[in-house]
Amino acid sequence: MVTHNNRSLSIAIRPAATELYDKAMDLSTKLSIPLIQRETKEYEFLLICSADGLALQQNGKKGLGPIMISFTSPAMTYRIKHGGDRKQALARAIGLKKGWQPTVIDATGGLGRDGFILACLGCRVHMLERSPVLAVMLEDALQRASQSEFTAEIISNRLQFTHADSSIFLQNLLPEDFPDIIYLDPMYPKRTKSSLVKKEMRILRGLTGDDQDTAALLDMALTRVRNRVVIKRPRLAPVLSSLMPSHQITGKSSRFDVYLI
Ligand SMILES: C[S@@+](CC[C@H](N)C(=O)[O-])C[C@H]1O[C@@H](n2cnc3c(N)ncnc32)[C@H](O)[C@@H]1O
Repeated sequence: MVTHNNRSLSIAIRPAATELYDKAMDLSTKLSIPLIQRETKEYEFLLICSADGLALQQNGKKGLGPIMISFTSPAMTYRIKHGGDRKQALARAIGLKKGWQPTVIDATGGLGRDGFILACLGCRVHMLERSPVLAVMLEDALQRASQSEFTAEIISNRLQFTHADSSIFLQNLLPEDFPDIIYLDPMYPKRTKSSLVKKEMRILRGLTGDDQDTAALLDMALTRVRNRVVIKRPRLAPVLSSLMPSHQITGKSSRFDVYLI
C-alpha cells in the first residue's frame, strides 16, 4: 500500500518490455511504488510503462483501462478541430476575446484535456495536479506531445505543468504572478450520471477519490486571480461557495459557474 493524496493506494508499475525496465525502475523509485515484472491482479492499479507512453489500468471487479493521456490522439485532434472554437461553453466561460491571450491556472489538471484545449484556444496555461501518478502521466504525455509537429508549438509556448497541490501553490503565489483566470474542474460528487459515463473519469475517481476540499480551493482561488474564477459543476449541483457566481453557462450535463472579480 502506498499513500497518495492521504489515501491508501494499491499500485505497482510494470515495464511492458525488457528495454523499458530502467525507466520503470526510475518511476518506481520516484513514486515509491513496487516494480513488478509480470501481469498480476494483486494491485488495484497498474501503471504500465510501454514504448507508447505510460498507461494506467484498474484491476478487480471494476477493472478498467488501460488509459493513456494523449494530446495527439485522434479523439483530442477531433475535439480541437471541431470543439476548439471560441463558441464552445468552456471558451465562453473563460471569456475569450479576439486578441486576448489570458494567463490561466488550471488548478485541477486531471487528464489535462481542458488545460490543453485552453492552450489551443490561445491561453497561456499553467496546469497543476496533485496526484503523483497523474503528474508522471501528464509529464509523459507532454513530453510526447512536445515531439509532435502538430502540438510542439503549443506545448513549448503555452502549456506549463507543475506537480503541486493547488491550494498550497495559490497560497504562495505573489501578487505579480496572479493569473487572469483560475479554472477548476473538481471530481464530481459520486453517482452523478455524467461522472459514470466515461471510463477515464471512473479510473480517475478510483485513483484520486472525491475532491472534498474544493470549496476551500475556490475561496483561495478568488483571492489569487485578476479577472475571474471558473468552476465546472454537474448541471444541477448546488454552487460551491457562499458567494453567488456572476453568471452561469449551462450545458447538457455540466455547468460553468463564473465568478468575475
Ligand atoms: C475531474 S479531474 C479534472 C479533469 C480535467 N479538467 C481534464 O480535462 O482532464 C479533477 C482533478 O483535479 C485534481 N485536483 C483536485 N484538487 C486539487 C488540488 N487542490 N490541487 C491539485 N490538483 C487537484 C484531482 O487530483 C483530479 O485529478
